[in-house]
Amino acid sequence: MSTTPQTKKLKAAIIGCGRVSVKHIKAISRLQDQIELCALVDTNQDAPQNLLSGSKIKGSRLRALTSSMKSYINYKDMLEDVHPDIVAITVPSGMHFEVAKACLLAGANILLEKPMTMSNTEALELYNMAESKGLKIAMGHIYRYFPIVSLLHEDMVNGVFGKVGHGSVIVRWGHENEYYTQAAWRGTWKSDGGALMNQTVHALDLMCYLMNTEASKVNGMIANRFREMEAEDTALGIFTFANGALCQVEGTTATFPNDHEASFFINAEKACVRIALRKGKPSYSITTPKGKNLAFKYLRRYLKKQGLSYTINVAKNPHYGIYHDLYTAATTGTQPIADARSGYLSVDMVLGFYKSVLTKSEVALPLTEEFQIEEMKSVSLK
Ligand SMILES: NC(=O)c1ccc[n+]([C@@H]2O[C@H](COP(=O)([O-])OP(=O)(O)OC[C@H]3O[C@@H](n4cnc5c(N)ncnc54)[C@H](O)[C@@H]3O)[C@@H](O)[C@H]2O)c1
Repeated sequence: MSTTPQTKKLKAAIIGCGRVSVKHIKAISRLQDQIELCALVDTNQDAPQNLLSGSKIKGSRLRALTSSMKSYINYKDMLEDVHPDIVAITVPSGMHFEVAKACLLAGANILLEKPMTMSNTEALELYNMAESKGLKIAMGHIYRYFPIVSLLHEDMVNGVFGKVGHGSVIVRWGHENEYYTQAAWRGTWKSDGGALMNQTVHALDLMCYLMNTEASKVNGMIANRFREMEAEDTALGIFTFANGALCQVEGTTATFPNDHEASFFINAEKACVRIALRKGKPSYSITTPKGKNLAFKYLRRYLKKQGLSYTINVAKNPHYGIYHDLYTAATTGTQPIADARSGYLSVDMVLGFYKSVLTKSEVALPLTEEFQIEEMKSVSLK
């Protein structure tokens, strides 16, 4: 007699029930066969309930989601009580290191929001700690989970596109001043950084992933043109990668909030790759030297590999892909697509960029000495 194997369910907790945690809870609500929500934690005791009502998850799906869930105001109490298998860390960026370290010490795999930490040495410590404990860190680098991106990476690794010449990345993620005044940590050097560390860090990571390389040098400039915040609202710079490719970067939150744009361009010998997200709508173009666009071919290949249901879920909410991936990594031992190393290297790129501003010189990467983002407090941006 054959029996159907039971899927192992992992217990998950979310620490920090603010703005981004809605994406997390929606993702978990769609993965209830694999993931059981066991705790919501926030120092504001109303936040867990606000999160649930703001998520618009209703009826039987909500009842199933919250059936074994408890709320906590202290994450250390939660770790001791619940022993979660997975913890999503969605607290302000300046707290990522402290909370992530405690979760790894408690034996949990983590989904850590970007940026990994505010210093290169702290990021490296988390990376090494996870490696030595055999735990997984999946980063909230949503761009890696956009449809077809993993196939483009695969083809780059296999040499399908030939040599990479250069690339360009634009993040025009406008926020009004209210976004910065809503939460005191936002836009401060201590707890957030500016457009580069908050909004652009995972776009830089995507360029490394798509080009299959790592940054080796950076030259950058930053300014604060419009927003009332301590850190920069605009950053322009150029990275050189280990494969020789150059990459131009524009990251800003000083544009209009109703016209968000993230665009990625890669000029390779055998194809030009363009991925863009504008006002929430994605577009892809992979053009051959003869001008043929292979985007539909890639989409068909992606659908065949991932299936319709996964593709729809991840297109609506890339955090679905991150949870799916972390579940697989934690239960089978694979590495998440946005792994701890990507978290460390992208933070290193941003800090190198800031250091180049501070020292008014080109900076070699990865950084060989500790760089704390708070060192930027001495730079005048106006
Ligand atoms: N991947 C993405 O697309 C994405 C998008 C937005 C934000 N983020 C990242 O997510 C993180 C959170 O951003 P946000 O905009 O949701 O912030 P937020 O201020 O809206 O929410 C943070 C929450 O953490 C809670 N908190 C603070 N200290 C805590 C503690 N010690 N224990 C438990 N809870 C605590 C706060 O009360 C708040 O509810 C940031 O690191 C940000 O960069 C990622």
